[in-house]
Formats: sequence, structure tokens, C-alpha cells
Amino acid sequence: MIQDSSRLLIAMDFSDKNQALAMAETLDPKTCRLKVGKQMYTLFGPDLVKQFHAKGFEIFLDLKFHDIPNTVAKACAAAADLGVWMLNVHTSGGRKMMEASVKELQKFGTDAPLLIGVTVLTSMGTEDLLETGISSSIEARVLMLAQLAQSSGLDGVVCSAHEARLIRQAIGDDFLLVTPGIRPQGSDVGDQHRVMTPEKALAAGADYLVIGRPITQASDPLKAMCDISDSITSWLSNAN
Ligand code: C5P
Repeated sequence: MIQDSSRLLIAMDFSDKNQALAMAETLDPKTCRLKVGKQMYTLFGPDLVKQFHAKGFEIFLDLKFHDIPNTVAKACAAAADLGVWMLNVHTSGGRKMMEASVKELQKFGTDAPLLIGVTVLTSMGTEDLLETGISSSIEARVLMLAQLAQSSGLDGVVCSAHEARLIRQAIGDDFLLVTPGIRPQGSDVGDQHRVMTPEKALAAGADYLVIGRPITQASDPLKAMCDISDSITSWLSNAN
């Protein structure tokens, strides 16, 4: 199990920059990190990342790069220059793309961000996979992509908590599992498909939990974040 008391990555999916900055103001960089995804990065670019950095937050830049190896490797280097803590690429971009990214990030030495591979999006079910021409089960597909990511030198993968145990058993402890699709008991599932509660995700072997709307769209976001953070802390102290 990783030694990081801050396991919560808050998905900052806002269209209003001031709303996002106001939300960050209420949060504590010691208890969570912020995830900047395609919506906010497209709207506000590197400046937003710099503003979150200035507030003391480490950033997971969730742009899910997927392109030819040279383009993705250079995009990873640009993200590393920005000083992000974690970034990701699509594992379905293949070994050459991932290895080129790892090689580019090695130039940053100990300042290199963690490089994580997206396996199968948590919004996708078996039917969705089939429509894209993939007839294997989600579990088999995720495991295959996770093994490809590991042998390509990535630090870990994004997967649904439903596949976390399977990956842990096959790959071992020295590989980060980042799980979106986390829903506290009773909260709205939205467009996510393969969801799990924070405690169950940790028990299944997840290292970092990505949580967006259950916090950002809550009537009281700070309370929602504190409740989840407390449940993580109490689960971790029971597990140790
Ligand atoms: O609001 P919600 O908790 O569903 O947000 C989940 C976040 O995680 C979103 O920002 C989404 O883009 C991201 N994500 C995901 N599935 C993945 C990778 C990232 O839902 N496989």
C-alpha cells in the first residue's frame, strides 16, 4: 500500500473559472489534490494550473493524450514543464507511444510527474466496447492494457475500482491504481457506469480516488469533501 495520506483527487470540471478557484479556496491541499481535465484546460489553459499551484495544490493533468508517439511524448514534456504531479495517456495508443512518453519524462529526473495510463473509461460498458469492435470482457481488456502499460514503463493506470483487485493480483503492489467512478453511498451515478464507494475501492486496492460531481455538485461541497475524506482516513487507519 502506498504511503500517501492524501488519496483524494477532486475532478474540477467547471465552466466558470471563478467558481473553480472559489471551490479550491475552500479545500485543503494537505488532504486532496486537484484534477484538471479537458473542459477546464481547454477553457483556461496552463494559467489555471499555475493558479492552483499558487494555492498550494498538486495537479493531476487529466488530458488523456492519445496520438502518434512523438506528439504524445512532447505533450508529456510540456505537462512536466508545467510542474504537474501526475498526467495520463491512453494505453490503447500502444507500447511505442507509452515508451516514447516514459523516455521523454526521464529527462526530468526526480521532478518527472507520475505517468498513468487510461485503460477502459469508467463510463463504458460491454455494449459500448463491442460497438468499438472489442469483443473481450471489460475485465480482460483492462487487465491486458494494464499489463501493457506496466511493461511500457508507466507508473500505473486509471481503471474502474471493479478491476482494481484483478490488476493488483496480476501486477502486484508496485503499480498505482487511480480509480474514477467513485460514488459515496446514495449519491447520483450520472453518466458513470462501473461505480463503487470510496471504502470499497480502497479495499479493492485503489491508491487514488477521483471524485468529481459528488463533491463539486453537492449542495454543500465542503461537507461532501470532508465526509469522503473522513471515510478515507478511517478506512486507512483500520487497514494499518
Ligand atoms: O464527476 P465524476 O466523479 O464522475 O468525475 C470523474 C472524473 O474522472 C471526470 O473528470 C472524468 O473525466 C474522469 N475520468 C473518468 N474515467 C476515466 C478517466 C477519467 O471518469 N477512465
